[in-house]
Amino acid sequence: MMADAVKAVELLREGKVVAVPTETVYGLAADALNPQAIARVFEIKNRPADNPLICHFNQIGQISSYVKNIPDSTLKLMQHLTPGPVSFMLDLSEDSPLQFATCGSAQVIVRIPDHPLLLEIIERLDHPVAAPSANTSGKVSPTSAQMVAEDLGAKVDAIVDGGECRVGIESTILDARNAHEVIILRHGNIGEKEIRDVLPAAMVRDVKPGERGVTPGSKYRHYAPDTQIFGADSFKAVAHERKIALLLTQESLDAIDVREREKFVNHQNVFVALGSVKDLNDLARKFYSSISGVDRLDVTQAFFLRADLGDSSLAKALQTRLDKIISH
Ligand code: TXA
Ligand code: MG
Repeated sequence: MMADAVKAVELLREGKVVAVPTETVYGLAADALNPQAIARVFEIKNRPADNPLICHFNQIGQISSYVKNIPDSTLKLMQHLTPGPVSFMLDLSEDSPLQFATCGSAQVIVRIPDHPLLLEIIERLDHPVAAPSANTSGKVSPTSAQMVAEDLGAKVDAIVDGGECRVGIESTILDARNAHEVIILRHGNIGEKEIRDVLPAAMVRDVKPGERGVTPGSKYRHYAPDTQIFGADSFKAVAHERKIALLLTQESLDAIDVREREKFVNHQNVFVALGSVKDLNDLARKFYSSISGVDRLDVTQAFFLRADLGDSSLAKALQTRLDKIISH
């Protein structure tokens, strides 16, 4: 069933689970204060029971009553970067009702998403909304209502269609509780540059393996389509294959000789151009739909032609997703 914001709020109040748009990817939303609704999110996604959910708020003021405090460094980042594609780790207050969403962890990850429909839903509900990405655990995140319907379909109580996601990959997750050191727990569109613009004196670094308990995305395999995708270092290495999909950047595709390209396609192979490295925003927006689209092609396996995406935050974010998608 499709729902508008008002209907979605009605359903969330009844403890139902609704897929909602955000600027990053679609989320599978439940009232964050309702343990039964949260349990259903885990069931629908087939998500391991110890993998906590991000809690979404519509403004900074709404967060304070659920957490011990909002440290100055985090507050500054929130004021400058939210609503937006970035999430923050905070310490839960004693007996916080968010402990169900965090699977008992003493830390919560909070986010103020930049999507008018979800912000309206949270405001009307007047509770935070717990929402992981709206995909079956292990599959890629959906970036359109149609992708949600294809994966979860009848399992969800409703889908709110907010169009295609503007960013296309999940939010950056930061631990900015310490003023001197901001730790990137998950790469995304917001990176070191945006952090330093707000906190010029802070050291910014990647999380180390195992640090901070559950490191987002590291504990479980993520983001993989059903078709196995392997890495390839050159076109030559796969040129002799049959019935494969070759995922590559527009630049890599342009670099292949036209006759070689024709021969490859005549062997029942398919090129999947992911976009140009010169426009990573566009590439990120289409990324997950291109990846999940491979399952609908008549191919036996797929390859990704490795390419240098650069060293921007988005490049790093895409590279970390690719590393998880590619089978070894
Ligand atoms: O852009 C996003 O962040 C999207 C949209 C829907 O908001 N959400 C999203 O949620 O990507 P999810 O559940 O697919 O990824 C959240 C990651 C998971 O890897 C989870 O383990 C981690 O964040 N996480 C959430 N709460 C945590 C906590 N309290 N402590 C440690 N890790 C946590
Ligand atoms: Mg996810």
